[in-house]
Amino acid sequence: MIITFYGQNSFGINIGDINILVDPFITGNKLSKDQINILDLKADYILLTHAHQDHILDAEAIAKNTGAIIVSNFEIATHYENMGFEVHPMNHGGSWDFEFGRLKYVNAIHTSSFPDGSYGGQPGGFVIEGEHKNIYIAGDTALTMDMKLIPMRTKLDLAILPIGDNFTMGVEDAIIASDFIECDKIIGCHYDTFGYIEIDHEEAKRKFYEKGKDLMLLDICESIEL
Ligand code: NI
Ligand code: MN
Repeated sequence: MIITFYGQNSFGINIGDINILVDPFITGNKLSKDQINILDLKADYILLTHAHQDHILDAEAIAKNTGAIIVSNFEIATHYENMGFEVHPMNHGGSWDFEFGRLKYVNAIHTSSFPDGSYGGQPGGFVIEGEHKNIYIAGDTALTMDMKLIPMRTKLDLAILPIGDNFTMGVEDAIIASDFIECDKIIGCHYDTFGYIEIDHEEAKRKFYEKGKDLMLLDICESIEL
């Protein structure tokens, strides 16, 4: 499994020869828009955690370009289905066996309106059980006790957690989240993109390190192999 950071909550995940793109927000992100041409991004599936602009902005253009299947909650999937895209609707607690592995849509505490204010269902995160490795993509969320349910079913190898505070968990709550999910290997996301969520990278990494955990803050387009 190869995971590539594209800024904010956007990630590419390669499992075997399947390309998954999560929450594509690139053309509106000052940190990534000059480094990435969205038409170069490969996607067989686009996973959307919720309907906020900083998660869905480029989904339409990339789905049009790649023919990717959009996977999200029922309301978001229906929104894209009505536009003519191929979709797979899910909802909280549900899992499905895709060609890349088993995918579960799990709880997040946040909101989920589309940029025009229309209803985007309830926000979520994803657990991917790949062939060899399991990961959790929390999406935008507060710290929630529901995270304790995840390790009851899935032994995680890595988790992608928001750490920018203000709109989501900050660093301290993300450290508690990593206890709840029983996973000490974390990629941070949802920081630095806007003024409200700028963080001190070294301080964030130190706080995780002091609890015996590893926080990775990837550069734009940087990849790690799991
Ligand atoms: Ni959001
Ligand atoms: Mn967001």
